[in-house]
Amino acid sequence: MTVAAVPDPLTQPVERARLQDAQPPSLLSLGSVQEQKKKILLVTSEMAGLVKTGGLGDVSAALPRALRDLHDVRVLLPGYPQVLDSGNHIRVVGEVPGQAAIPAARIGRIDMDDGLIVYVVICAELYERPGNPYVDPQGNEWADSHIRFARLSLAAADIAAGNASIRWSPELVHANDWQTGLTPAYMRWRGQNTPCVFTIHNLAYQGLLDMHRSPELGIPGHACQMEGMELHGRLSLLKAGIAYADRVTTVSATYAREITTPEFGCGLEGFLASKAAAGKLSGIPNGIDDSWEPESDPHLSQPFAMHDWQARDANTAEVRRLFGLRPSSGPLFAVVSRLVYQKGLDLTLGVVEDIVAGGGQLVITGCGEPQIEEAVRALQDRYPGEVGVRVGFDETEARRMYAGSDFLLMPSRYEPCGLSQMYAQRYGSLPIARRTGGLADTIEDGLTGFLFEGSRLENYRGAIARALEVFAAPELFSAMRCRAMSAPCYWHQSIEPYAELYMGLIEARSGSQQLQR
Ligand code: ADP
Ligand code: GLC
Repeated sequence: MTVAAVPDPLTQPVERARLQDAQPPSLLSLGSVQEQKKKILLVTSEMAGLVKTGGLGDVSAALPRALRDLHDVRVLLPGYPQVLDSGNHIRVVGEVPGQAAIPAARIGRIDMDDGLIVYVVICAELYERPGNPYVDPQGNEWADSHIRFARLSLAAADIAAGNASIRWSPELVHANDWQTGLTPAYMRWRGQNTPCVFTIHNLAYQGLLDMHRSPELGIPGHACQMEGMELHGRLSLLKAGIAYADRVTTVSATYAREITTPEFGCGLEGFLASKAAAGKLSGIPNGIDDSWEPESDPHLSQPFAMHDWQARDANTAEVRRLFGLRPSSGPLFAVVSRLVYQKGLDLTLGVVEDIVAGGGQLVITGCGEPQIEEAVRALQDRYPGEVGVRVGFDETEARRMYAGSDFLLMPSRYEPCGLSQMYAQRYGSLPIARRTGGLADTIEDGLTGFLFEGSRLENYRGAIARALEVFAAPELFSAMRCRAMSAPCYWHQSIEPYAELYMGLIEARSGSQQLQR
């Protein structure tokens, strides 16, 4: 058993006090913060609290708030029904013109209760429909996704150019994932010089478009080539983001390296490797926000502190009840995930027998691809009382699962960063994950969770066996839990790299403007 040799530091809380008391980064001490605050527009297709389908939503809600002491960060988001009907007051503050097949739109403004300012692209014909940002209620992708997200990107470019008649324009634009890939592209094609950062949260979702549709989005001919946004004879909106942004980031250091290799590069590895060689690609890890506190999380019916395993056990019993499992003193495994190929659910189907034979139980929640939903539903009938499944997603239920499970399964084929493993650690559930991307960077094997190599089932089964052995050794299990709960994964350690990146680009741009004068 590889976890047996546990080093002494396991019993030491890891820098938690330092993190909680952490002063905002050093930039703050460099004089008047207000004077230094830069105006940043974060462009995104989802934001937790208004509309969320996965981790991008969490990051878009947390990052602007984490940065607020340093910069004036505002968010730009499409006006889906979930946003318009969120109960927040929306004031129309501007408008943006149409272009090619992209209709004109109005810009609304929401002042969130905590002061965060969110601009909303209001365009009924594109956004006001049922379903989620990417699919209709039947799960089919929107046929006009390219127009929907070109509309978002063009609005960002217009706001940056001061063309939206709102009295605020950013000094830097930060676009995220393929839905906003055209943001730096439109800015570049129109000769705008506001710097733009593009963050890849998931390289596999490319936003591909047939070449003949380029006129609909006003894409110029020179961009439809390999040096631009062409990929295997089509157009990739994600590649546009990479090609035209001043800097490209992704959400962990390991994923930043992985995407320059054929295994993870989705055909863009060469292009990305050249960006990396030019010093224009880097990894900045995500963090989790301070709503993830097991002692005060209002979603939990029984909040708990580190070492208070009795209180925590009440959460475990509750999850068993919620999912119709028989009472048990064995380990409880959980999956909280989008049910998509990336997340390796098919591998998990292969370890259920090991879990149940080892006296364990399993709860699964999430939604996504219909055949994966079907496969996990079938598990419940195959293992009645031992496996519970809820297809769908509910934030309270998800938080209770992190707080009630002993182990979280994340055998992702790739994982740019991953937030679920950090939430689980924070709530004392040890992640069992493939050593890839952000999972490799945030899980210490045998200390704050379990890592296995590659995507071979036997390696995954080996990690499950190690977890079962640790569960049977209560002192070791408790020590690992404490270490996981203390893991330093707050946003505070990610905001300095972002803040410095923003400052560096803004200063470089104003320096080059002065030189030109
Ligand atoms: P990803 O973004 O690839 O889904 P992350 O681990 O970064 O993975 O983030 C997952 C976040 O999304 C967590 O907050 C998790 O609770 C939530 N989540 C998981 N499944 C769903 C779902 N089906 N719908 C909405 N949110 C989900
Ligand atoms: C993506 C990735 C996930 C990451 C999230 C937020 O959805 O799959 O690994 O944590 O974006 O950056």
